[in-house]
This record gives sequence, structure tokens and C-alpha cells, in this order.
Amino acid sequence: MNKTDSGRTHTCGELRKENSGDQVVLTGWVRKRRDHGGLVFIDLWDRYGITQVALNPQIDSSSHDIAHTLRAEFVLRIEGKVSLRPEGTVNEKLSTGAIEVYAEKARILNTSKTPPFVIDEDEAPSEALRLKYRYLEMRRGPLLKNLILRHKITTTVRSFLDSHEFLEVETPALTKSTPEGARDYLVPSRVNQGHFFALPQSPQLFKQMLMVAGVDRYFQIVKCFRDEDLRADRQPEFTQIDMELSFADEETIQSICEEMVSAIFESTLGKKLETPFPRITYDESMNRFGKDAPDLRFGMELSDLSDLAGKSEFKVFTGAVESGGTVRGIAVPGCASFSRKDLDNLTEEAKIYGAKGLAWIKVTEEGFQSPITKFFTPETLDAIKEKTGANAGDLMIFVADKVNVAFDTLGALRVSLAKRLELINKDEFNFVWVTHFPLLEYDKEAKRHVALHHPFTAPLTADTDLLETEPTKVRSRAYDLALNGAEIGGGSIRIHNSDMQSKIFGLLDINDEEARAKFGFLLDALEYGAPPHGGIAFGLDRIAALLTGSDSIRDVIAFPKTQKALCPLTDAPSAVEKKQLRELGLKRDLS
Ligand code: AMO
Ligand code: AMP
Repeated sequence: MNKTDSGRTHTCGELRKENSGDQVVLTGWVRKRRDHGGLVFIDLWDRYGITQVALNPQIDSSSHDIAHTLRAEFVLRIEGKVSLRPEGTVNEKLSTGAIEVYAEKARILNTSKTPPFVIDEDEAPSEALRLKYRYLEMRRGPLLKNLILRHKITTTVRSFLDSHEFLEVETPALTKSTPEGARDYLVPSRVNQGHFFALPQSPQLFKQMLMVAGVDRYFQIVKCFRDEDLRADRQPEFTQIDMELSFADEETIQSICEEMVSAIFESTLGKKLETPFPRITYDESMNRFGKDAPDLRFGMELSDLSDLAGKSEFKVFTGAVESGGTVRGIAVPGCASFSRKDLDNLTEEAKIYGAKGLAWIKVTEEGFQSPITKFFTPETLDAIKEKTGANAGDLMIFVADKVNVAFDTLGALRVSLAKRLELINKDEFNFVWVTHFPLLEYDKEAKRHVALHHPFTAPLTADTDLLETEPTKVRSRAYDLALNGAEIGGGSIRIHNSDMQSKIFGLLDINDEEARAKFGFLLDALEYGAPPHGGIAFGLDRIAALLTGSDSIRDVIAFPKTQKALCPLTDAPSAVEKKQLRELGLKRDLS
């Protein structure tokens, strides 16, 4: 450590037994204080560690008794001598645990009010307090550790992408909205009253125009803003590792991403990943796991029992199949012992995801047990058992409904049961690419097709004929990367032809006039020699949360918002002065 203004010679995490006898200057915060009568011991903390300092109350005879004045979180400058700790008092848990510093001079650089919570690594106060006093929360340690790991991720990404010819280019934060399916954050223009900028939901269209420009390989570690309902893995502002490549197909993009993700794991956890990651299609993912970001660390795969269900007398099953729905089931290992109450609770959980009920059959050594066995022949029951892969001792559960409800429900129950039954190896990092997403889906409320990824994703060449006849059957060239059941990145090969782009806008019910008004600049750019291109964006916060084992991305963000999209530290968003509104030509409408 270089000498700084305070004359600091070492950090609080630096001194070892080799330093014994050295004259040093340390600076830091008072953590713990132990009064041993003649001597006062303090743990002096800074970002790098903790050093034990011994203070004699009469240390600085020119001033008052500093040692007894000290309180938690006072800021100190200590000048003194490094000594080996007496035998039996060495602290193996501290990197500096072999030594202590005998203070010869001590100066209080600043005092501190009593913190609103004890600043202790192992004792987390409520999240409300941790958000309001974020700077004190950082001083506790775990958040700071996460931020250091996050910093390692971004340095690795920058150096990896730099060595692969990617250019980091900044795109505007005040821009026109590029729809990604969420609401925009709007910024009123003072100079052009009545007009608004939008904060970018992603740099999607700018990175595509950089490809038209010939940048060839672009990346940016960039803030994105989406006004959407928040969850543990969603924030209104979050960070993407955003990439775009010209003349690259799916395979090239995916393999560069695999190398980059491997480099991240190597530099942060020292872990080598096996590449290539498995690839499965969207259809396979939904049919086997009920989700488009599947967790492959455990079994309990879904099976399609529609054929067998059709052979039963059980109206719930036959009715669903006859009305175009499906019957899907999973075998839950070892749960034939579930009580009535367990089964009722599981049924209630199923209803959260839209299921009307949950049918179940226990498989025991003595045979099948369920109120519904009477509706099935013994052969059909055996065939169902065979198809779900159930063994004696297992519980089979079934949902009969529209396909999406069956997938949503069983996909969610599969994960929640695996957690409860502790079937998940927490040390495993399971990656999977999900490919061939549908291009469009029909939004019943809006009564129109919407893009599943975004409107700039290219359709699969083999499916383009279906665009006219059965648009929802068209598969796209979109891909997502899932890690342990969470979507950590998503991208696609783009449309690079203006006619095809106009055609897709048409299918999305965006008429020519609207397409011109909203995306004219993109359609123009596509007409000036746009190269074939594609890209991807990773959720940096999500990757950092998974790498640190955090439950929420809030734990890897220095100053996050609450679930209600508020910042308890600054009290943003807040009311503004009337004058500010007037300048912007805005009026609050309270009607
Ligand atoms: P997409 O919308 O899939 O793609 O976003 C890419 C990745 O960003 C992360 N993410 C979020 N993280 C935290 N909070 C949020 N609210 C949030 N929303 C998204 C996810 C997601 O996988 N322009 C395209 C990318 C492309 O096509 O290249 C895009 O933004 O991890
Ligand atoms: P019911 O005929 O409504 O008495 O339901 C008989 C059993 O089937 C109960 O255990 C319900 O929870 C279950 N059930 C009802 N609807 C469905 C459904 N759509 N899918 C699966 N099971 C269902």
C-alpha cells in the first residue's frame, strides 16, 4: 500500500508475522472494543480486513484518554509497532491473526453516531434498515464481498471481449423507446415541450445500427430500465452485458458466450466449466420441464398422459383432452407417504398457477391408492406408472388443463418439490441453451400477435412459409441461456432485411405509418447494406446473484430499489417543485 495523506503504510488486512517489529500507520473504523483494564483492544476495520490494535489509555499524553473515548465506528489513525500475539491468542480466522499493533500514537479522524444496527458480519438486520443505511450495510462485509465479485465479473468480461475484438461503445440513455415488453420510464423534454425521451429498456436498436456501421463486434456493460412488476430477480434498473456480432450464426455466438461465462467462473470461483453447454429446443424444454428456463439438476420430468387419460372414465381428464387440452403428470419420489393435509396443500399451491385442481395417485408395494383409481383399468394405471417412471413409494400428480396451465403448474411444483425434498445439489452449476423459441404468440387481451423475444428477431428460415398461414407455428432464431433454472441471458439472430422487418411489423399489427413513426430509423438503416447479425444480453445482476448464492439480486447491487420500486436511502422517487413542472410544461392531473 502506498503512503496516503494520512500516512497509512498498510491496510487492516495486510500485516503478517513477518512484519513483527515494523513501525506502521493504519487507518480504519473501530469495530469491536475490549477493555482489559490497563489496555484497551480494538478491532480496526477497513475494506481489506481487521487488525487488532492494543491501546494504552495514556497513549497520547498530550491529549485526553483516547482509548476510553472510542466508540463503535469512530475513524482512527494509529501509529505503532507490530508484535507477535502471545501464544494461545493467535486468531486463525483472521488473515492478520498472528499479530497485533501496539499503538504509540492514536488520532480520532472522525466520530460516529451509534449505528442503527450492530455492524457485524454474521448478524443481518432487517432489509428495510439495510437499504436505508446502505453505507453501513456495506461496512458489515457480505455486500461488499458481493460487490468485489461483481467487479471481478466485469473486469473479466471486459478483458475477454477486448481480446476477441469486441469494441465497447456507449449508447444513449435518453432515447426513444424500443419495446421489450415492459413499460418505459419516461423523461420529459424541457426544450421540446410535450415530447418525452424514454430510458432504454435495452440498447437493442443502437447495437443493430452499430452492426450496419461496420463495428462488427460490439459490447457494453449497460444500465437498462424497465417499469415492470418487481420480483427477487427483477429491478427497475439493472445491468446487461450486451453484445452484438456481425456475420455470426447461433453456433458462433453461443460458443463465444460459453467461453466468456467459463472465464467468469474461473476468475471468480476458480471453477472450470464443461463446454459446450447442452442445447435443447423450446418445445423439448416445455414438454420435459414445463419451463423455458429449465433446471436440469434433478429429474421429476413431466410426461404427457393425454392418450392414456383418454382411456379413463375420469371426466376431469377426458374433458380436458376433448376440449383440446392435455393431461400431464410427474412422479414425486418417496412421497406416497404424503398425508391428506400435504396433498391439500399441494393442491392449493397448484391453484396459484391457474390449475383447477390436482389429481394424485400413490404408488405403494400393495398397489395404487387414490380416490380416482376406480376410473382406470389396472392396465391403464400400470401404463401411467410406466410413463411417469414412478416406483413403489412415489406419488404421481396430474394436471388436466390447457397446455400452458399444465406446464406452468407442474413446472413450478417440480421446482418447489425438489427444493423441499432436497433433491438439488447446491454446488452444481447447470447451464443449458434453450433454442427455437416461437417467434410470436397471440395475446388474447390485446387481440393481436406479440413477439415472444422482440420484433427484431429473425424467423427460422425453414418456417418462413408459415408466416402467412400459421404465424404462431413459426419458430424463431432466438436462444436463451439458463443457469440452475434462471434465465441469465437471451438473444437472437436478427432480421437484416427491411422487407422482412416490415412484414413482421405487419404481423404484429403495427401498420406502415406506425412502423415508420416508431422504427423508421431502423428500417432506413437496414436499407444501407446491413450485414447479417445477431447478439445476446446477459443479466449481470442475475449472474452475480447466482455466483454469490444470493437469494435476491438486491444483494449484489450497491444501491437497489425495493419491491415497490423505491429507494429508501434517498427517498426517490419524490415530489418536485411546481416550478420544475412548469418549466417542463407539465401539470399534475389529480382527477
Ligand atoms: P432480455 O429482455 O431477454 O433481452 O434481457 C436480457 C437479460 O437481462 C436480464 N433482465 C433483468 N435483470 C434484472 N431485472 C430485470 N428487470 C431484467 N430484465 C431482464 C435477464 C435477461 O436474460 N435486447 C435483448 C437482448 C438481445 O436480443 O440481444 C434483451 O434485452 O437476465
Ligand atoms: P372433482 O371431480 O372436482 O371432485 O375432482 C376430483 C379430483 O381431481 C380432486 O382431487 C381435484 O383436485 C382433481 N382435479 C380437479 N380438477 C383437476 C384438473 N384440472 N387437473 C387435475 N386434477 C384435477
